[in-house]
Amino acid sequence: MTDFSGDIGLYQRRVAECPGGAAQRMAVLRSLSLEIGQAALDIGCGGGHLVREFAISVGSKGRAIGLDVSEEQVASASEYCAGYEATACVFGNATDMDFEDASFDKLASIRTLEYIDDVPAALAEMRRVLKPGGVAALVSVLWDHFRFHGPASSLNERILEAFRVHCPHQMLPMALPGMLARSGFVGALQEPVTLFERSFNEYSYAFWVSKLVAAFAVGEGVSSEDVELWLQQLQQADDEGRFGFVSVPVLTITHVSG
Ligand SMILES: C[S@@+](CC[C@H](N)C(=O)[O-])C[C@H]1O[C@@H](n2cnc3c(N)ncnc32)[C@H](O)[C@@H]1O
Repeated sequence: MTDFSGDIGLYQRRVAECPGGAAQRMAVLRSLSLEIGQAALDIGCGGGHLVREFAISVGSKGRAIGLDVSEEQVASASEYCAGYEATACVFGNATDMDFEDASFDKLASIRTLEYIDDVPAALAEMRRVLKPGGVAALVSVLWDHFRFHGPASSLNERILEAFRVHCPHQMLPMALPGMLARSGFVGALQEPVTLFERSFNEYSYAFWVSKLVAAFAVGEGVSSEDVELWLQQLQQADDEGRFGFVSVPVLTITHVSG
């Protein structure tokens, strides 16, 4: 299982703060249409950004819960959501959640399902905790189409290839509608939340994702000199106006029959 603690967790939270991270949450919030008093769950809540937005959407009469399998992420999310009423960020595994049956009106999971080995087990749990008529908004990335543009081609390919091991399901959105149907969900509408960035700076999604890629590449045996060179080449490409980054997260919206 990919461990989102330490530097990896820190970079992931910076990714979430960037406009590209916010765009994915906005797509989720729009599709869930939360109402005051509803109960909403974010599975793989990371730093708690969506949980706080859930809390604002459902108000003090509702419930906004974040769940994550990393203690560090839960601690960070709890701090980020402190002061918001009816909110809790808790430790737990998506495949075995400690919630009552039919206890949530809506749930979301952003860039998390593709890290879970047993996706059907997580979907069965989502189905169990949702009320009849409940809605799930799930975002996963088409990792085959995740690209940085700018560094020397062979180095770029080597680094991106090494990064592939960071996640067991590279193209989950393609399989997800079938999996959802087999798990008892009804319907699966899909839309891309495409990220296309031409700037590499400390407020860009690409910048913080490159740090994640670099950390995983070193873990996969690419030399730290090569990874450093790749990062320099990204910066140089930006300086010369030829930097590019493309990622295609896909939002899948599904529901439990009412
Ligand atoms: C890429 S991060 C995304 C975090 C957050 N959803 C966001 O958009 O910023 C994936 C998160 O899922 C969590 N995670 C991975 N596997 C999980 C599991 N089986 N159950 C619960 N959380 C899990 C990780 O600890 C990590 O915080």
